[in-house]
Amino acid sequence: MDPVRRPRRLRTDGVRPLVRETTLSPSDLIAPVFVDATTDERVPIDSMPGHERVPVEEAVARVGEVRETGVEAIVLFGIPESKDARGSRAWAEDGVVQRAVRAIAEETDAYVITDVCLCEYTDHGHCGIVEESAREDPTLTVRNDETLDLLSRIAVSHAEAGADMVAPSSMTDGMVGAVREGLDGAGFADLPIMSYAAKFESAFYGPFRDAADGAPAFGDRRHYQMDPANAREAMREVRLDVEQGADVLMVKPALPYLDVVSAIRREFDHPVAAYNVSGEYAMLQAAAERGWLDLDEVARESLLSIKRAGADLILTYFAERIAEQLPTDRGR
Ligand code: PBG
Repeated sequence: MDPVRRPRRLRTDGVRPLVRETTLSPSDLIAPVFVDATTDERVPIDSMPGHERVPVEEAVARVGEVRETGVEAIVLFGIPESKDARGSRAWAEDGVVQRAVRAIAEETDAYVITDVCLCEYTDHGHCGIVEESAREDPTLTVRNDETLDLLSRIAVSHAEAGADMVAPSSMTDGMVGAVREGLDGAGFADLPIMSYAAKFESAFYGPFRDAADGAPAFGDRRHYQMDPANAREAMREVRLDVEQGADVLMVKPALPYLDVVSAIRREFDHPVAAYNVSGEYAMLQAAAERGWLDLDEVARESLLSIKRAGADLILTYFAERIAEQLPTDRGR
């Protein structure tokens, strides 16, 4: 045996950078930020070490910390002062996200993306309007079409506050179209939409639901979020969102769904985003805490893999930590 083809020739230290197919840069990353109207000091999130819910007054400072690391884009989540059946604090002009966005837009150049959903704002924790009787019969689902109008109102209120992009995440049928129509009607035709297009009903959202206090009070989300078993259905979901005007297509979670990321990459020309969710973060943190994994190494490898699968942008709780280790490419 004397192999003629020896792939190892391209693995020396000198040549590896020349043949590298995928690179990671701070400009690929979007950092989630939580603003909380129920507190006047920062509250650490137990299940997501290194992350906190910050009061509105600290939002600008928090975004400053993110930008220090080279990450210029954030996705904002809000914990409102009160909840009701319709989630009315979600579109209030003086709502937690609206106030935070206004301050961030006024005082920084950060690129602000807002999550457009109802689950953190409804007292039942579902991503839309539910039948009263659903409390007794959790097989009843969200009232799809009535929810659309609320999503559109939320998006417009975020745009009015100064958001740069909105990201509807409720998996309501027709949500992208409704949000697009609302934005266009309110004079925001140029504001892009990042759709949570293929969002799976995943157990990996657990820590987030603690962080944002958005767990459903009864039932689950399997009537509106996707079945983890389905990849072809993800393509149908994405196609619908493209038809309705989505500008960026997101897959969520990321690592367990890289096949979906890669299939969307091949089939569509739009930028593809992947959400490396709270559970993906928490499990690496937990293993690292025990000394079983090297956190920086596994985090970087995870993000690189998500890009290699075809994502252009990554929403990740590792954004700051990893960006700090990367050279910036903002020199233009
Ligand atoms: C919905 C929303 C959720 C996440 C982002 N947007 C929660 C859910 O669908 O249950 C989860 C993100 C994460 O787990 O990191 N507003």
